[in-house]
Amino acid sequence: MITRRGAILSALAAGLARGQSGMEKLLSLYDFETEAHTKISHGAWERISGGAADELTLKWNREAYDQLRLKPRVLVDVSHVDTRVNLLGAELPFPILCAPTGGQGLIQPDGDLAAARGAAAAHATYVISSSASMKVEDVARGAGGPVWFQLYVQKDRGFTREMVRRAEDAGCRALCVTVDSPTFGLRNREERAKGELPERQLPNLRGKDYLDPTLTWKDIDWLQGIARRPVLLKGILNPDDAAIAVKSGVAGIIVSNHGARNLDTVPATLEALPHVVESVAGRLPVIVDGGIRRGTDVIKAIAFGAAAVQIGRPYLWGLGVAGSAGVTRVVDILRRELELSMALMGRPTIESIDRSALWL
Ligand SMILES: Cc1cc2nc3c(=O)[nH]c(=O)nc-3n(C[C@H](O)[C@H](O)[C@H](O)COP(=O)(O)O)c2cc1C
Repeated sequence: MITRRGAILSALAAGLARGQSGMEKLLSLYDFETEAHTKISHGAWERISGGAADELTLKWNREAYDQLRLKPRVLVDVSHVDTRVNLLGAELPFPILCAPTGGQGLIQPDGDLAAARGAAAAHATYVISSSASMKVEDVARGAGGPVWFQLYVQKDRGFTREMVRRAEDAGCRALCVTVDSPTFGLRNREERAKGELPERQLPNLRGKDYLDPTLTWKDIDWLQGIARRPVLLKGILNPDDAAIAVKSGVAGIIVSNHGARNLDTVPATLEALPHVVESVAGRLPVIVDGGIRRGTDVIKAIAFGAAAVQIGRPYLWGLGVAGSAGVTRVVDILRRELELSMALMGRPTIESIDRSALWL
């Protein structure tokens, strides 16, 4: 006789098996994108996928990687490929992080925690967004792996200070201040689907109007004065800003155009990257995000001087397809592609990847 509990368990097991075997057929991040599109509600899909205005930068973020050619070496011993890097004094097994993304509750009620756990299972550092749908403490403490915190400085600096303290006390190892968002971008695509979306939950912030257009370099000095963890600036594109960032004493910068969601027609991040790297001249680690979908993209970013890369949408696709396990699989695929591409490139270590790896 099959008990009710037994029936539920076997249905669960069948579901799991289906889910897993289904997921095994997904071989690339693009496969996850296609599958996620069938699983995520239309409104949430538009919010995740959309860029600003005419989405030209969104397209360029990808095209920049597609157009750049690689320059492999042969007859190099690549029997052992080592993807380890040192970032802010910590060793990462590979130079791929999960970028901060808000609104994950639209995909799954405990989306932020599931994503953080999935990243941890794949040994990737996960950056918790201040516009997460869950409290930073719940995500950081439940993640089971290294986490950073992304900060939107609030108009109320006292509240901002509290937020920083909370994130630090919860175990976040670095603070990424997003500096490219004095206001929200013109997200026409998201706006069109807005009626389909529930009210956003923002338990870490005060109110929906959470961006501060008065933010300047003075506030970065203030923040560094109160922070107990390394401060990175997220959203630098202009080499002149990168030069000021070096002088301001921050621990690192993230070359980002906010996944092309803010100002349309700014260049692809891969296009800005070498200029920023030149300006920084080795004085700070430079991380880059935007459009990274393949192991070869990671190689190209590293070749232009990035210390590491971040992925945003791809792990959200993983979350939409199979929750935590989907996020793990997305990171695993990208990591495996990176290893494989390093071997085929004749570059067995991250340090061995420089501009000579590009067909410029
Ligand atoms: C749905 C979504 C929400 C995002 N939310 C935030 C956020 O809260 N804070 C932030 O600094 N960046 C945010 N970003 C930008 C990402 O951190 C990252 O810069 C971008 O997604 C990288 O590009 P990719 O999606 O092409 O990999 C968001 C991006 C997406 C797609």
